[in-house]
Amino acid sequence: MKIFREKDYDAMSRRAATVIAGEIVHNPACLLGLATGSTPEGAYKYLVDWYKQGLISFRGVLSVNLDEYKGLEPSHDQSYRYFMQSNLFDHVDIAPENTRVPDGLTKDALAFCAGYDAYIRAQGYVDLQLLGIGRNGHIGFNEPGDCFVKETHVVDLTESTIDANARFFATRDDVPRQAFTMGIGPIMAAKKILLIASGEEKAEAVYNTICGAVDPHCQGSILQLHPDVVMVADEAALSKVIAAGVKV
Ligand code: F6R
Repeated sequence: MKIFREKDYDAMSRRAATVIAGEIVHNPACLLGLATGSTPEGAYKYLVDWYKQGLISFRGVLSVNLDEYKGLEPSHDQSYRYFMQSNLFDHVDIAPENTRVPDGLTKDALAFCAGYDAYIRAQGYVDLQLLGIGRNGHIGFNEPGDCFVKETHVVDLTESTIDANARFFATRDDVPRQAFTMGIGPIMAAKKILLIASGEEKAEAVYNTICGAVDPHCQGSILQLHPDVVMVADEAALSKVIAAGVKV
């Protein structure tokens, strides 16, 4: 794992955006795996800026998102489809038909999940997968548990994830209890992974991901087994790793 230690959120965002932009420049028809949440917002802003300056184009890019709340319609302002439209897709030249976010209203969840994995496989897997990390170490919405689930699936969100995401909703009761998430299989099949983290509340998860045992109770720890992971994190997120004397 290559680790970029950045001083703050903005530096982390810029560095992460350079990795994504680099992939697009080298492989204009790449399949990008994309994430939502607070962490990637800054990187998406840089990408939109660079697109507006004519430095990059998403014309040939395909995208597939990690996850979506089950039960939220795409137009709901807390759906991940809405997030992607407002933070990236509406501002760049990506073709709408080239973007995929799980449909939160899907009725036949099993068939939908199998189709999502089949699409990723048919594209030859993701070229660059962007990942944030949950305070509990989740990647996508693969929550801590006794195993790593390979396929795309419906997951029950843990209380800690519901607590963490309640900040986006009017009340905690409004947070959906289930989500669709890409499984660990397609994530680990990505050719390259970009893991980003910011803030002290991620320090424990980052430490367990990098320094802990490979253990499904910290799903991020599986990334130790991937041959090409770039982690971009600010000093607050790396604070526990730095305190443990690991050179980053
Ligand atoms: C979102 C996703 C999640 C988030 C994680 C961190 O698509 O897959 O794993 O990356 O919950 O969220 P933030 O960035 O809001 O702290």
